[in-house]
Amino acid sequence: MIKEMYGRHFLTLQDYSPEEIIALLDLAAELKRKLQQKEQHHLLAGKTLGMIFKKPSTRTRVSFEVGMWQLGGHSLFLSSQELQIGRGEPVRDTAAVLSRYVDGIMIRTFAHSGIEELARHATVPVINGLTDLYHPCQALADLLTIREKKGSILPGLSVTYLGDGNNVAHSLMLGCTKLGIHITVCAPKGYWPLPEVRSKAEKNGVVSGSSVMITDDPLAAVKGADVLYTDAWASMGQEQEKQERKNIFAPYQINETLLMQADPRAIVMHCLPAYRGEEITNDVLEGNRSVVLDQAENRMHAQKALMAMLMG
Ligand code: CP
Ligand code: NVA
Repeated sequence: MIKEMYGRHFLTLQDYSPEEIIALLDLAAELKRKLQQKEQHHLLAGKTLGMIFKKPSTRTRVSFEVGMWQLGGHSLFLSSQELQIGRGEPVRDTAAVLSRYVDGIMIRTFAHSGIEELARHATVPVINGLTDLYHPCQALADLLTIREKKGSILPGLSVTYLGDGNNVAHSLMLGCTKLGIHITVCAPKGYWPLPEVRSKAEKNGVVSGSSVMITDDPLAAVKGADVLYTDAWASMGQEQEKQERKNIFAPYQINETLLMQADPRAIVMHCLPAYRGEEITNDVLEGNRSVVLDQAENRMHAQKALMAMLMG
């Protein structure tokens, strides 16, 4: 069922129905075509997006900022260190005040409870630009990319994610299972996705007819997969665990040998930034199966659709 999307928050894909996600992907494809054909699409003329960053970013920051400009709107980069929030102003006051100035707030932060609190006190849509728990804008762009590369029939495809059961894995699990795509997450024990996210994905799968598999066996995980996906082994905020994780995750690297086990037409995805020689080899990242640059570009098209729907 498609509910009115105007005014809603976007904290997790779980809050959106399969039909709503498809509608977002359709609009993203349409806006991408318009941009390529230089057709004006000022769906957010006169609107402003505030973007709060508590962590670094290249893709998220630039794709939101440029996307907003292409939609005829304006965006503000707000580093949390330079906001009063960095000096202890409560989140609720920040949310309420920003809501008086801007038409939407995008935030990248640590604890997911932080964005939930912001959303509770904001009277404009709040968009999740990554928390420790989820990265739903990434998953939206990932689904758009898979649809472009593998054709419009998503149900029945299989995606295998190798590496840390992190925010990117969580959102990918929810997005895939909403749309009928089988998802396998392959990670060392102790780094598996959170049980509550797994159970949400399994419930989605019951409705959409897709399955969720969690394993620590890379060879079994990639067998026949249509998509191989990975992300950095140490996420932002886990820098001190980097060396330890390098040793633990070594068998989960996407390399030529592992890629040979997947479907011969399998594509390779990575949300970026990538650490060559760790979670993925240089050859595979740069190879002809890799779609990482299209995937990064699609962040902008997907987020433009999202902003147009929530704020337009
Ligand atoms: N994939 C992604 O979110 O990249 P940034 O950290 O550069 O925004
Ligand atoms: N899992 C990574 C994603 C970066 C885009 C992180 O949270 O740092």
